[in-house]
Amino acid sequence: MQKFYKIYTYGCQMNEHESEKLSAILSARGYIKTDCDEKCDVIVFNTCCIRENAEQHAFGNIGALKKLKEKNPSIIIAVGGCMTQQEGKSDVFKKSYPFVDIVFGTHNLESFGLLLDKKIESGKKVYEIEDEPSVFDVTPPLRKSYPNAWINIMQGCNNFCTYCIVPYVRGRERSRSIEDIYREVETAIESGYKEITLLGQNVNSYGNDLKTGENFAALIRKLNGIEGDYRLRFMSNHPKDLTEEVVKAIAENPHCCHLIHLPVQSGSDRILKLMNRRYTAQDYLEKVAMIKKYLPDCAISTDIMIGFPNETEEDFLETLDLVEKVGFSYAFTFVYSRRKGTVADKMEGQIDEAVKKDRIMRLVEKQNALTKAGSENCVGKTLRILVEDKDEKRGYMGRDEYGKMAYFPCKINCIGKFVDVSITKAEGISLIGEIV
Ligand code: 5AD
Ligand code: SF4
Repeated sequence: MQKFYKIYTYGCQMNEHESEKLSAILSARGYIKTDCDEKCDVIVFNTCCIRENAEQHAFGNIGALKKLKEKNPSIIIAVGGCMTQQEGKSDVFKKSYPFVDIVFGTHNLESFGLLLDKKIESGKKVYEIEDEPSVFDVTPPLRKSYPNAWINIMQGCNNFCTYCIVPYVRGRERSRSIEDIYREVETAIESGYKEITLLGQNVNSYGNDLKTGENFAALIRKLNGIEGDYRLRFMSNHPKDLTEEVVKAIAENPHCCHLIHLPVQSGSDRILKLMNRRYTAQDYLEKVAMIKKYLPDCAISTDIMIGFPNETEEDFLETLDLVEKVGFSYAFTFVYSRRKGTVADKMEGQIDEAVKKDRIMRLVEKQNALTKAGSENCVGKTLRILVEDKDEKRGYMGRDEYGKMAYFPCKINCIGKFVDVSITKAEGISLIGEIV
Protein backbone atom coordinates (compact mmCIF):
# COMPACT_ATOMS: atom_id res chain seq x y z
CA MET A 1 0.00 0.00 0.00
CA GLN A 2 1.13 3.53 -0.80
CA LYS A 3 2.46 5.54 2.14
CA PHE A 4 2.27 9.35 2.22
CA TYR A 5 4.05 12.19 4.01
CA LYS A 6 3.84 15.92 4.42
CA ILE A 7 6.40 18.34 5.86
CA TYR A 8 5.49 21.68 7.39
CA THR A 9 8.50 24.00 7.25
CA TYR A 10 8.94 27.22 9.21
CA GLY A 11 11.73 29.79 9.17
CA CYS A 12 14.76 30.38 7.02
CA GLN A 13 16.18 28.88 3.84
CA MET A 14 18.38 26.62 5.91
CA ASN A 15 15.22 25.01 7.28
CA GLU A 16 13.69 24.81 3.80
CA HIS A 17 16.83 23.06 2.67
CA GLU A 18 16.86 20.69 5.63
CA SER A 19 13.26 19.77 4.82
CA GLU A 20 14.57 18.70 1.42
CA LYS A 21 16.79 16.26 3.31
CA LEU A 22 13.85 15.04 5.38
CA SER A 23 12.00 14.53 2.09
CA ALA A 24 14.90 12.47 0.78
CA ILE A 25 14.88 10.33 3.93
CA LEU A 26 11.13 9.71 3.70
CA SER A 27 11.25 9.10 -0.02
CA ALA A 28 14.00 6.49 0.45
CA ARG A 29 11.61 4.66 2.80
CA GLY A 30 8.91 4.60 0.13
CA TYR A 31 6.81 7.54 1.29
CA ILE A 32 5.23 9.82 -1.32
CA LYS A 33 4.67 13.52 -0.80
CA THR A 34 1.13 14.83 -0.47
CA ASP A 35 -0.46 18.14 0.51
CA CYS A 36 -3.36 16.45 2.26
CA ASP A 37 -3.01 15.89 6.03
CA GLU A 38 -5.77 13.23 6.08
CA LYS A 39 -3.94 11.09 3.55
CA CYS A 40 -0.65 11.12 5.50
CA ASP A 41 1.09 8.27 7.28
CA VAL A 42 3.76 10.66 8.55
CA ILE A 43 3.56 14.41 9.18
CA VAL A 44 6.77 16.24 10.08
CA PHE A 45 7.07 19.75 11.48
CA ASN A 46 10.44 21.37 10.83
CA THR A 47 10.24 24.28 13.23
CA CYS A 48 11.84 27.68 13.81
CA CYS A 49 12.32 29.62 17.05
CA ILE A 50 13.95 32.85 15.89
CA ARG A 51 10.95 34.90 17.01
CA GLU A 52 7.96 34.14 19.18
CA ASN A 53 5.48 34.31 16.31
CA ALA A 54 7.36 31.56 14.44
CA GLU A 55 6.88 29.31 17.46
CA GLN A 56 3.24 30.23 17.92
CA HIS A 57 2.57 29.51 14.29
CA ALA A 58 4.05 26.01 14.62
CA PHE A 59 2.33 25.33 17.96
CA GLY A 60 -0.98 26.31 16.35
CA ASN A 61 -0.53 23.98 13.38
CA ILE A 62 0.68 21.10 15.54
CA GLY A 63 -2.22 21.54 17.98
CA ALA A 64 -4.66 21.42 15.08
CA LEU A 65 -3.58 17.84 14.36
CA LYS A 66 -4.84 16.49 17.68
CA LYS A 67 -8.24 15.69 16.14
CA LEU A 68 -6.68 13.94 13.16
CA LYS A 69 -4.58 11.81 15.50
CA GLU A 70 -7.72 10.84 17.47
CA LYS A 71 -9.45 9.84 14.26
CA ASN A 72 -6.41 8.04 12.89
CA PRO A 73 -4.10 6.92 15.73
CA SER A 74 -1.71 5.20 13.32
CA ILE A 75 -0.57 8.49 11.80
CA ILE A 76 2.94 9.42 12.95
CA ILE A 77 3.45 13.04 13.97
CA ALA A 78 7.05 14.25 14.30
CA VAL A 79 8.34 17.62 15.47
CA GLY A 80 11.93 18.70 14.98
CA GLY A 81 14.24 21.57 14.16
CA CYS A 82 15.21 24.69 16.05
CA MET A 83 12.23 24.93 18.36
CA THR A 84 12.67 21.51 19.92
CA GLN A 85 16.45 21.97 20.24
CA GLN A 86 15.96 24.73 22.84
CA GLU A 87 16.63 23.76 26.40
CA GLY A 88 13.58 22.24 28.04
CA LYS A 89 11.37 22.66 24.96
CA SER A 90 11.01 18.97 24.23
CA ASP A 91 9.29 18.65 27.63
CA VAL A 92 6.57 20.98 26.39
CA PHE A 93 5.74 18.36 23.77
CA LYS A 94 5.79 15.54 26.32
CA LYS A 95 3.39 17.41 28.58
CA SER A 96 1.14 19.46 26.36
CA TYR A 97 1.26 17.66 23.01
CA PRO A 98 1.17 13.98 23.99
CA PHE A 99 -0.12 13.02 20.54
CA VAL A 100 3.28 13.89 19.05
CA ASP A 101 5.16 10.62 18.38
CA ILE A 102 8.69 11.77 17.55
CA VAL A 103 10.62 14.78 18.84
CA PHE A 104 14.05 15.47 17.39
CA GLY A 105 16.40 18.45 17.27
CA THR A 106 18.66 20.22 14.79
CA HIS A 107 21.69 18.03 15.51
CA ASN A 108 19.99 14.73 14.69
CA LEU A 109 17.77 15.89 11.82
CA GLU A 110 19.69 13.73 9.39
CA SER A 111 19.08 10.69 11.61
CA PHE A 112 15.34 11.17 11.30
CA GLY A 113 15.00 7.94 9.32
CA LEU A 114 16.40 5.91 12.21
CA LEU A 115 14.07 7.63 14.68
CA LEU A 116 11.13 6.85 12.41
CA ASP A 117 12.19 3.18 12.18
CA LYS A 118 12.48 3.07 15.95
CA LYS A 119 9.00 4.51 16.39
CA ILE A 120 7.50 2.04 13.91
CA GLU A 121 9.31 -0.97 15.40
CA SER A 122 8.70 -0.17 19.07
CA GLY A 123 5.35 1.58 18.80
CA LYS A 124 6.64 3.85 21.55
CA LYS A 125 7.27 7.58 21.52
CA VAL A 126 10.74 8.66 20.49
CA TYR A 127 12.17 11.82 22.07
CA GLU A 128 15.77 12.35 21.04
CA ILE A 129 17.58 15.67 21.23
CA GLU A 130 21.36 15.76 21.00
CA ASP A 131 23.73 18.41 22.39
CA GLU A 132 26.28 17.99 19.62
CA PRO A 133 25.85 17.24 15.94
CA SER A 134 26.20 13.56 15.07
CA VAL A 135 26.10 13.67 11.31
CA PHE A 136 26.06 16.78 9.18
CA ASP A 137 25.40 17.18 5.50
CA VAL A 138 25.62 13.56 4.50
CA THR A 139 22.06 13.25 3.19
CA PRO A 140 21.61 14.32 -0.43
CA PRO A 141 18.48 16.51 -0.54
CA LEU A 142 15.36 15.82 -2.57
CA ARG A 143 15.30 19.28 -4.09
CA LYS A 144 11.98 20.99 -4.61
CA SER A 145 13.09 24.48 -5.52
CA TYR A 146 14.06 24.16 -9.18
CA PRO A 147 15.72 26.15 -10.76
CA ASN A 148 17.32 27.14 -7.45
CA ALA A 149 19.52 24.69 -5.56
CA TRP A 150 20.35 25.43 -1.93
CA ILE A 151 23.72 24.14 -0.90
CA ASN A 152 24.86 24.20 2.67
CA ILE A 153 28.46 25.28 3.21
CA MET A 154 28.50 25.53 6.98
CA GLN A 155 26.40 25.13 10.08
CA GLY A 156 26.19 26.98 13.35
CA CYS A 157 27.24 30.40 14.58
CA ASN A 158 29.87 31.65 17.04
CA ASN A 159 28.76 35.28 17.15
CA PHE A 160 26.26 35.34 19.99
CA CYS A 161 24.45 38.52 19.06
CA THR A 162 22.65 39.17 22.33
CA TYR A 163 19.11 38.89 20.89
CA CYS A 164 19.70 35.70 18.93
CA ILE A 165 18.82 32.11 19.77
CA VAL A 166 20.60 30.63 16.75
CA PRO A 167 23.97 29.88 18.43
CA TYR A 168 22.10 27.95 21.14
CA VAL A 169 20.08 25.77 18.78
CA ARG A 170 22.56 25.39 15.93
CA GLY A 171 25.78 25.01 17.87
CA ARG A 172 29.28 26.18 16.94
CA GLU A 173 30.49 26.87 13.41
CA ARG A 174 31.32 23.81 11.34
CA SER A 175 32.39 24.11 7.72
CA ARG A 176 32.07 21.50 5.02
CA SER A 177 35.12 20.80 2.92
CA ILE A 178 35.60 22.79 -0.27
CA GLU A 179 35.71 19.50 -2.22
CA ASP A 180 32.30 18.39 -0.90
CA ILE A 181 30.76 21.75 -1.71
CA TYR A 182 32.40 21.86 -5.14
CA ARG A 183 31.04 18.43 -6.00
CA GLU A 184 27.52 19.32 -4.87
CA VAL A 185 27.51 22.57 -6.84
CA GLU A 186 28.88 20.85 -9.92
CA THR A 187 26.28 18.08 -9.73
CA ALA A 188 23.45 20.59 -9.29
CA ILE A 189 24.58 22.55 -12.36
CA GLU A 190 25.02 19.38 -14.39
CA SER A 191 21.46 18.40 -13.45
CA GLY A 192 20.15 21.69 -14.83
CA TYR A 193 19.90 23.96 -11.78
CA LYS A 194 20.41 27.60 -12.75
CA GLU A 195 20.83 29.31 -9.42
CA ILE A 196 23.02 28.07 -6.61
CA THR A 197 22.51 29.60 -3.17
CA LEU A 198 25.26 28.84 -0.68
CA LEU A 199 23.84 28.71 2.81
CA GLY A 200 25.32 29.32 6.22
CA GLN A 201 24.38 31.37 9.29
CA ASN A 202 27.48 33.46 8.66
CA VAL A 203 29.11 32.47 5.37
CA ASN A 204 31.96 34.93 5.91
CA SER A 205 33.25 32.71 8.72
CA TYR A 206 33.43 29.78 6.32
CA GLY A 207 36.66 27.86 6.84
CA ASN A 208 37.64 29.34 10.22
CA ASP A 209 37.42 25.83 11.65
CA LEU A 210 39.11 24.07 8.71
CA LYS A 211 42.72 22.99 9.03
CA THR A 212 43.36 23.75 5.36
CA GLY A 213 43.31 27.53 5.87
CA GLU A 214 40.73 27.90 3.11
CA ASN A 215 38.23 30.70 3.58
CA PHE A 216 35.05 31.98 1.91
CA ALA A 217 36.98 33.92 -0.74
CA ALA A 218 38.88 30.72 -1.61
CA LEU A 219 35.57 28.88 -1.95
CA ILE A 220 34.16 31.49 -4.33
CA ARG A 221 37.36 31.42 -6.38
CA LYS A 222 37.32 27.64 -6.52
CA LEU A 223 33.68 27.56 -7.66
CA ASN A 224 34.60 29.97 -10.44
CA GLY A 225 36.00 26.93 -12.25
CA ILE A 226 32.54 25.43 -12.74
CA GLU A 227 31.29 26.35 -16.18
CA GLY A 228 27.70 26.81 -17.28
CA ASP A 229 24.91 29.32 -17.49
CA TYR A 230 24.03 29.79 -13.83
CA ARG A 231 23.97 32.28 -10.98
CA LEU A 232 25.69 32.07 -7.66
CA ARG A 233 24.22 33.60 -4.49
CA PHE A 234 25.02 33.18 -0.82
CA MET A 235 23.64 34.11 2.55
CA SER A 236 23.87 35.31 5.24
CA ASN A 237 26.76 37.73 5.77
CA HIS A 238 27.99 39.45 8.89
CA PRO A 239 29.24 43.00 8.24
CA LYS A 240 32.19 42.59 10.59
CA ASP A 241 33.44 39.54 8.66
CA LEU A 242 32.80 40.54 5.04
CA THR A 243 36.33 41.19 3.79
CA GLU A 244 37.78 43.00 0.80
CA GLU A 245 39.18 39.65 -0.32
CA VAL A 246 35.65 38.21 -0.50
CA VAL A 247 34.31 41.18 -2.45
CA LYS A 248 37.23 40.90 -4.88
CA ALA A 249 36.50 37.19 -5.32
CA ILE A 250 32.86 38.05 -6.07
CA ALA A 251 33.99 40.63 -8.64
CA GLU A 252 36.21 38.01 -10.31
CA ASN A 253 33.50 35.35 -10.52
CA PRO A 254 31.08 36.20 -13.35
CA HIS A 255 28.46 33.85 -11.90
CA CYS A 256 28.16 35.80 -8.63
CA CYS A 257 25.06 37.97 -8.39
CA HIS A 258 25.69 41.59 -7.57
CA LEU A 259 23.31 41.48 -4.64
CA ILE A 260 24.72 41.14 -1.15
CA HIS A 261 22.54 40.50 1.85
CA LEU A 262 24.22 42.38 4.68
CA PRO A 263 22.12 42.47 7.86
CA VAL A 264 22.63 45.79 9.66
CA GLN A 265 20.06 45.33 12.49
CA SER A 266 20.31 48.93 13.75
CA GLY A 267 21.76 52.32 12.84
CA SER A 268 22.54 53.26 16.45
CA ASP A 269 26.04 52.56 17.76
CA ARG A 270 24.71 52.28 21.29
CA ILE A 271 22.19 49.61 20.28
CA LEU A 272 24.68 47.81 18.02
CA LYS A 273 26.98 47.56 21.02
CA LEU A 274 24.21 46.20 23.24
CA MET A 275 23.46 43.71 20.45
CA ASN A 276 27.12 42.63 20.43
CA ARG A 277 27.32 43.19 16.68
CA ARG A 278 30.91 44.46 16.89
CA TYR A 279 30.63 47.23 14.27
CA THR A 280 29.39 50.82 14.27
CA ALA A 281 27.04 52.48 11.80
CA GLN A 282 30.11 54.16 10.30
CA ASP A 283 31.87 50.77 9.93
CA TYR A 284 28.80 49.52 8.13
CA LEU A 285 28.74 52.47 5.73
CA GLU A 286 32.44 51.89 5.04
CA LYS A 287 31.71 48.24 4.22
CA VAL A 288 29.04 49.36 1.77
CA ALA A 289 31.49 51.83 0.19
CA MET A 290 34.09 49.06 -0.06
CA ILE A 291 31.57 46.80 -1.85
CA LYS A 292 30.69 49.61 -4.28
CA LYS A 293 34.37 50.22 -5.00
CA TYR A 294 34.70 46.77 -6.56
CA LEU A 295 31.07 46.26 -7.58
CA PRO A 296 29.64 49.69 -8.42
CA ASP A 297 26.28 48.21 -9.47
CA CYS A 298 25.94 46.00 -6.40
CA ALA A 299 22.55 45.99 -4.67
CA ILE A 300 22.47 45.64 -0.90
CA SER A 301 19.66 44.04 1.05
CA THR A 302 19.45 43.82 4.80
CA ASP A 303 17.74 42.71 8.02
CA ILE A 304 16.69 45.41 10.46
CA MET A 305 15.27 44.98 13.91
CA ILE A 306 13.40 47.58 15.94
CA GLY A 307 12.45 47.54 19.61
CA PHE A 308 15.65 46.06 21.01
CA PRO A 309 15.89 46.73 24.78
CA ASN A 310 16.71 50.38 25.57
CA GLU A 311 16.13 51.58 22.00
CA THR A 312 15.15 55.25 22.27
CA GLU A 313 13.42 57.41 19.69
CA GLU A 314 16.88 58.85 18.84
CA ASP A 315 18.31 55.37 18.29
CA PHE A 316 15.38 54.55 16.05
CA LEU A 317 15.83 57.78 14.07
CA GLU A 318 19.47 56.78 13.52
CA THR A 319 18.22 53.51 12.04
CA LEU A 320 15.87 55.39 9.70
CA ASP A 321 18.75 57.67 8.77
CA LEU A 322 21.00 54.73 7.91
CA VAL A 323 18.25 53.14 5.81
CA GLU A 324 18.06 56.37 3.83
CA LYS A 325 21.85 56.68 3.48
CA VAL A 326 22.45 53.14 2.22
CA GLY A 327 19.35 52.91 0.05
CA PHE A 328 18.73 49.20 0.53
CA SER A 329 17.05 47.44 -2.37
CA TYR A 330 15.16 45.27 0.09
CA ALA A 331 14.95 45.05 3.84
CA PHE A 332 13.51 42.32 6.01
CA THR A 333 12.15 44.18 8.99
CA PHE A 334 11.59 42.60 12.38
CA VAL A 335 10.17 43.50 15.75
CA TYR A 336 12.55 42.40 18.50
CA SER A 337 11.26 39.26 20.17
CA ARG A 338 12.51 38.07 23.59
CA ARG A 339 14.16 34.68 23.41
CA LYS A 340 14.73 32.67 26.60
CA GLY A 341 18.37 31.97 27.32
CA THR A 342 19.72 34.98 25.39
CA VAL A 343 21.53 37.91 27.03
CA ALA A 344 19.06 40.51 25.74
CA ASP A 345 16.15 38.69 27.34
CA LYS A 346 17.59 39.53 30.75
CA MET A 347 18.25 43.20 29.91
CA GLU A 348 16.26 45.92 31.57
CA GLY A 349 14.54 48.48 29.39
CA GLN A 350 12.37 46.12 27.32
CA ILE A 351 10.31 48.20 24.92
CA ASP A 352 6.58 48.66 25.10
CA GLU A 353 4.53 46.81 22.44
CA ALA A 354 2.80 50.00 21.31
CA VAL A 355 6.16 51.74 20.77
CA LYS A 356 7.41 48.72 18.81
CA LYS A 357 4.32 48.78 16.65
CA ASP A 358 4.73 52.46 15.89
CA ARG A 359 8.41 52.05 14.98
CA ILE A 360 7.97 49.02 12.77
CA MET A 361 5.25 50.83 10.84
CA ARG A 362 7.44 53.87 10.29
CA LEU A 363 10.39 51.71 9.25
CA VAL A 364 8.33 49.65 6.81
CA GLU A 365 6.87 52.83 5.33
CA LYS A 366 10.32 54.27 4.77
CA GLN A 367 11.73 51.11 3.19
CA ASN A 368 8.63 50.59 1.03
CA ALA A 369 9.08 54.05 -0.44
CA LEU A 370 12.73 53.24 -1.26
CA THR A 371 11.90 49.83 -2.73
CA LYS A 372 9.07 51.35 -4.76
CA ALA A 373 11.34 54.06 -6.16
CA GLY A 374 13.83 51.32 -7.11
CA SER A 375 11.07 49.41 -8.91
CA GLU A 376 9.80 52.46 -10.76
CA ASN A 377 13.34 53.08 -11.90
CA CYS A 378 13.19 49.76 -13.80
CA VAL A 379 10.26 50.76 -16.00
CA GLY A 380 11.45 51.01 -19.60
CA LYS A 381 14.50 48.85 -18.90
CA THR A 382 15.15 45.27 -19.99
CA LEU A 383 16.08 42.85 -17.21
CA ARG A 384 17.65 39.43 -17.57
CA ILE A 385 15.30 37.23 -15.61
CA LEU A 386 15.70 33.68 -14.39
CA VAL A 387 12.17 32.24 -14.53
CA GLU A 388 11.29 30.54 -11.25
CA ASP A 389 7.59 29.95 -11.09
CA LYS A 390 4.16 30.50 -12.59
CA ASP A 391 1.38 32.41 -10.89
CA GLU A 392 -2.24 31.68 -11.88
CA LYS A 393 -3.10 35.35 -12.28
CA ARG A 394 0.09 37.17 -13.11
CA GLY A 395 1.85 34.70 -15.37
CA TYR A 396 5.46 33.62 -15.12
CA MET A 397 7.66 35.01 -12.36
CA GLY A 398 11.39 35.39 -12.04
CA ARG A 399 14.17 37.58 -10.69
CA ASP A 400 17.12 39.42 -12.08
CA GLU A 401 20.54 39.15 -10.47
CA TYR A 402 19.77 42.12 -8.19
CA GLY A 403 16.70 40.35 -6.84
CA LYS A 404 14.12 42.42 -8.76
CA MET A 405 10.99 40.35 -9.26
CA ALA A 406 9.11 40.49 -12.55
CA TYR A 407 5.88 38.93 -13.88
CA PHE A 408 5.22 38.42 -17.57
CA PRO A 409 3.18 36.21 -19.92
CA CYS A 410 4.72 33.38 -21.94
CA LYS A 411 3.04 30.81 -24.20
CA ILE A 412 5.47 28.00 -23.44
CA ASN A 413 6.74 26.71 -20.11
CA CYS A 414 9.85 28.79 -19.48
CA ILE A 415 10.63 27.86 -15.86
CA GLY A 416 14.38 27.44 -15.47
CA LYS A 417 15.20 29.61 -18.50
CA PHE A 418 16.94 32.97 -18.65
CA VAL A 419 14.81 35.48 -20.56
CA ASP A 420 15.07 39.20 -21.29
CA VAL A 421 12.01 41.01 -20.01
CA SER A 422 11.15 44.57 -20.94
CA ILE A 423 9.53 46.23 -17.93
CA THR A 424 6.33 48.12 -18.67
CA LYS A 425 4.94 48.76 -15.20
CA ALA A 426 5.87 48.75 -11.51
CA GLU A 427 3.42 47.42 -8.92
CA GLY A 428 4.86 47.89 -5.44
CA ILE A 429 7.96 45.71 -5.29
CA SER A 430 6.97 43.63 -8.33
CA LEU A 431 7.43 44.53 -11.94
CA ILE A 432 5.26 43.70 -14.93
CA GLY A 433 6.78 43.20 -18.36
CA GLU A 434 7.00 41.33 -21.64
CA ILE A 435 9.59 38.95 -23.00
CA VAL A 436 11.73 40.70 -25.61
N1 5AD B 1 13.85 39.10 17.47
C1 5AD B 1 13.59 39.66 16.26
N2 5AD B 1 14.34 39.43 15.17
C2 5AD B 1 15.38 38.58 15.30
N3 5AD B 1 16.30 38.17 14.42
C3 5AD B 1 17.15 37.33 15.03
N4 5AD B 1 16.80 37.18 16.33
C4 5AD B 1 15.71 37.97 16.52
C5 5AD B 1 14.88 38.26 17.64
N5 5AD B 1 15.13 37.73 18.84
C6 5AD B 1 16.36 38.66 13.03
C7 5AD B 1 17.68 39.32 12.71
C8 5AD B 1 18.36 38.33 11.83
C9 5AD B 1 17.18 37.69 11.13
C10 5AD B 1 17.47 36.37 10.51
O1 5AD B 1 16.23 37.57 12.15
O2 5AD B 1 17.42 40.53 12.01
O3 5AD B 1 19.27 38.93 10.92
FE1 SF4 C 1 22.20 35.15 15.17
FE2 SF4 C 1 24.13 37.00 15.11
FE3 SF4 C 1 24.72 34.43 14.55
FE4 SF4 C 1 23.27 35.86 12.81
S1 SF4 C 1 25.40 36.28 13.41
S2 SF4 C 1 22.84 33.76 13.50
S3 SF4 C 1 22.06 37.19 14.17
S4 SF4 C 1 24.02 35.24 16.52
